[in-house]
Amino acid sequence: MKLTKLALSLVAIATLFTFAYAANKTIKDDSIGIRQGSLFQEDNVVGDKTQYNTDAAGTSTKIDRAFENAPPMISHDTEGMLPITIDNNQCISCHDPMVAPSVNATSIPKSHFTNFREDVSIDKKGELERDGKILANSSDIKTIVKPLDHLSNARFNCSACHAPQSDSKIVPKNNFIPDFRGTDLNNKSNLMDNVSEGVK
Ligand code: HEC
Ligand code: HEC
Repeated sequence: MKLTKLALSLVAIATLFTFAYAANKTIKDDSIGIRQGSLFQEDNVVGDKTQYNTDAAGTSTKIDRAFENAPPMISHDTEGMLPITIDNNQCISCHDPMVAPSVNATSIPKSHFTNFREDVSIDKKGELERDGKILANSSDIKTIVKPLDHLSNARFNCSACHAPQSDSKIVPKNNFIPDFRGTDLNNKSNLMDNVSEGVK
């Protein structure tokens, strides 16, 4: 019995060494990603020009979602729209659900008109508090799902999550294949229908 255990341990150790050796052989810091050479040098990044789509909004072709309920990439030119500022958010002017259908744009979804964090305040000392009690960590803020009658401030800066896509020739092959649970979910989202999935 003891011998079998010893033999098994030896096999396990040998396997570990084989993997460690293989890993050591295949991954070197100068062959990670598209940077050729040492990761500690800045001047060896292989350049490629950033080429965003120049088709104007209304004439572009939408890009398939990267995975189910991923934020869609901006398919059109964003010239003159970025950066978004408090006085100038052109994205809303076309994507507001009241306007979007008339300009053939996708409406800002319900999830962006929802509060996912309970309201807390900040006291004079800069501490987070709820109902007069100080919260030790921001992780104490509860997750909620509360519909709002306006766009959530957390969604105001669209470009924090939605990005235009640059056409590049040197991007390494991506082997990820998204698995959509519905046939139409590669070009629309249904997050609010299943946002509580798996939550007790
Ligand atoms: C002039 C109106 C207009 C403005 C301004 C505008 N969009 Fe769009 N957007 C559209 C239209 C129309 C489409 C649909 C694709 C097309 O026809 O070009 C679209 C498509 C998109 C998509 C892809 C949606 C999908 O379902 O795949 C995203 C994301 C997006 N826009 C985000 C933005 C953001 C972020 C801004 C601000 C930086 C912005 N848009 C500004 C009209 C606009
Ligand atoms: C915090 C990240 C975040 C911000 C900020 C954000 N979005 Fe989104 N957006 C998402 C994600 C994630 C999805 C896909 C899941 C969903 O529908 O919520 C999405 C989906 C969308 C869709 C597709 C809806 C559909 O039915 O297919 C549009 C259009 C959109 N967002 C526009 C905007 C605009 C315009 C802004 C700025 C006013 C914005 N978003 C800000 C993360 C964000």
